[in-house]
Amino acid sequence: MKGLILSGGKGTRLYPLTYTRAKQLIPVANKPVLVRVIESIRDAGVTDIGIIVGDTAPEIKEALAKRPELGVNLTYIHQPSPDGLAHAVRIAQDFLGDDRFVMFLGDNVLQGGISDLIRQFASSDWNSQLVLKAVGMERASSYGVVELADDGRIRRLVEKPKIPPSNLALVGIYMFDAHIFEAVNSIGRSARGEYEITDAIQWLIDKGYHVFPHIHEGWWIDTGEPEEMLTANDFVLMEIEPSISPEADIINSQVDARVTVERGARIIDSVVRGPAIIGENTVIEQSYIGPFTSVYYDVVVRNCEIEHSIILENSRVMDLDVRLQDSLIGRSASVLRDHRKPRALKMNLGDHSTVWIPD
Ligand code: DAU
Repeated sequence: MKGLILSGGKGTRLYPLTYTRAKQLIPVANKPVLVRVIESIRDAGVTDIGIIVGDTAPEIKEALAKRPELGVNLTYIHQPSPDGLAHAVRIAQDFLGDDRFVMFLGDNVLQGGISDLIRQFASSDWNSQLVLKAVGMERASSYGVVELADDGRIRRLVEKPKIPPSNLALVGIYMFDAHIFEAVNSIGRSARGEYEITDAIQWLIDKGYHVFPHIHEGWWIDTGEPEEMLTANDFVLMEIEPSISPEADIINSQVDARVTVERGARIIDSVVRGPAIIGENTVIEQSYIGPFTSVYYDVVVRNCEIEHSIILENSRVMDLDVRLQDSLIGRSASVLRDHRKPRALKMNLGDHSTVWIPD
């Protein structure tokens, strides 16, 4: 069994954070989503993993090279342009050979492991298995949607249908045997110009191959939008086992039991209520950090209140007189107070940024 992770594409819906960064590297509870995906495949005993990369390849390679502890063999497969999920499978054929494989979209976060499912497929004679999640009917049109047959197999798949035939969405975890290559090499481009994996799977079904569903009962987040990043962060923070590094300094502060504090972090004269995580070498001083907050590494927070937010590396948040909440702050960003007159908002915002000013 091999693994294939899709980390190409352009994260336009996460602008401005993804102008200069691969969306799969944005951290949830201080760990990039892509690393969480690799861990869940590895935990099923699959260590030969291909990663489809596009324009952001250098950044992805650099980030993963720093994590030898993952213990996997990574093969990078370059996709010149994001021509679709089936195109990604097609260009991975040399790497995958005749092995059965699990394909995982690099920006999905799922509750619990999928180890048992991967192992079960590895020893079965099914041609494909797809992970599905029941979603609200109003959300179903944002995804690939499937219709089940009476015998429990999958009868039909449609990509982002205007009128969904069911509420069962494809969550972006697919298992295949080598017959998928016949399919991806037979289909044409869809109306939106991509080679769709849904069309390739429909081709398998139409040729009589056996495609089975697995309905996932836990939560699942496709981290395509800022609100979804915050929601994924909430869920993962609730699940991680909190720990305080012996190499962190906590001075004159209250840090509750559901807080993780990483190496080199310093918490001084502050209150931190979990679930929350404070990253490596970050300094929190005279501040309140509330539940569902992830502060990444090398950040300085001074004289502020922050709740339900993600703050990325090297940023500074200082001297605010309102609470920062429901926010996603990018890398090396500054949120500061200016005491000089005139009293006005002064901004240096990137394209596609949003600021909400309280009444
Ligand atoms: O999130 C689940 C949905 O993912 C499924 O329900 C849909 O059936 C499936 O098509 C897909 O839809 P998205 O619109 O979310 O796909 P997106 O373009 O965001 O790409 C998903 C991941 O695959 C992302 O990490 C980028 C990567 N990718 C995408 C394309 C189109 C590639 O590596 N190469 C590509 O050509």
